[in-house]
Amino acid sequence: MIRQTLFRLSQQPQLRSIATTNPMAQSVARRFVAGETLEEALATVADINAQGMTATLDHLGENVTGRHEAVTAADDAIQSFRAIQQAGVRCNASVKLTQLGLDIDPGFASENLSRVVQAAAQYENFVRIDMESSEYVDRTLEIFAELFSTHRNVGVVIQACLYRSASDLEQVVKAGARVRLVKGAYLEPPAVAFQRKEDVDSNFVRLSELLLAHGTYPAIATHDPRMVEAAQSFARSHDIPNSAFEFQMLYGIRRDLQSQLVRAGHNVRIYVPYGPHWYPYLMRRMAERPANVMFVLNNLAREARGRRR
Ligand code: FDA
Repeated sequence: MIRQTLFRLSQQPQLRSIATTNPMAQSVARRFVAGETLEEALATVADINAQGMTATLDHLGENVTGRHEAVTAADDAIQSFRAIQQAGVRCNASVKLTQLGLDIDPGFASENLSRVVQAAAQYENFVRIDMESSEYVDRTLEIFAELFSTHRNVGVVIQACLYRSASDLEQVVKAGARVRLVKGAYLEPPAVAFQRKEDVDSNFVRLSELLLAHGTYPAIATHDPRMVEAAQSFARSHDIPNSAFEFQMLYGIRRDLQSQLVRAGHNVRIYVPYGPHWYPYLMRRMAERPANVMFVLNNLAREARGRRR
């Protein structure tokens, strides 16, 4: 119930503009967002590198409605590759197709993505296409497959919550593409997705085994210790070395588990979101763990008290 409410709130444009201009909400967002500028994000990445982990930068934004906005988002991603090289950090980039204009025209989004992937190739870097809600999966996989036929430095995301994912995963694994496996962050109907956490979790384990056994440098993206342990144990029993895959986690979540995995000799990549359009991202993090709402409310109350003093 609370999860559904938070999802609905994440799609409210009025709330988005109130939250993103509110200094108290901004300071709360900093727990999950690395800052507003590329410079701040790169400083965070340098810190993550110093802790023995790599990163993927996400310049936040989604569902853009104007062509200019989409072209600017692609240009920003292109700029980031040069900045990554100049900063000397170990980091790639993640993008969302609705940020590059998928709601406007798939061909236009595909052109924007192609520019981003070509720029990344010039800097010997890599682009991950995030997966959005189920209505975008077909178009995302189509655009991905077309681009992957000419560019190998692009990968995609598969969501364990969707019934279709076993078959999608088989296709992308067969093509030799790099996959990030996640549980899925969107509220999906029973017609397309498992509704019970146990079912999502078992599918995650099943797909992660397929990916570890047959995938190309797979990414197991989760903060769930049971999913992590299942992947570790499958890799051990099938002689898959730690260097053949990576774990991925979101900035600000389960730092203890992140460093534990580094100490155990695993490759760990942190997803580092930044930029002013953090509202829907933050609300999805709240929906995943309603305890975060208490964290936010406590922070807001503390700041409000501080301001009254
Ligand atoms: P689960 O939600 O079961 O949580 C397990 C444990 O992790 C919790 O008990 C808690 O300890 C901790 N935890 C999880 N979420 C937390 C939070 N928000 N705050 C604090 N603690 C939390 N989704 C998608 O649809 N498309 C995408 O492209 C991506 N990309 C992506 C990249 C990376 C690197 C990660 C880690 C995740 C994504 N996701 C995503 C999000 C993913 O689908 C999923 O919603 C979250 O990872 C939460 O699921 P967990 O696997 O962590 O398990």
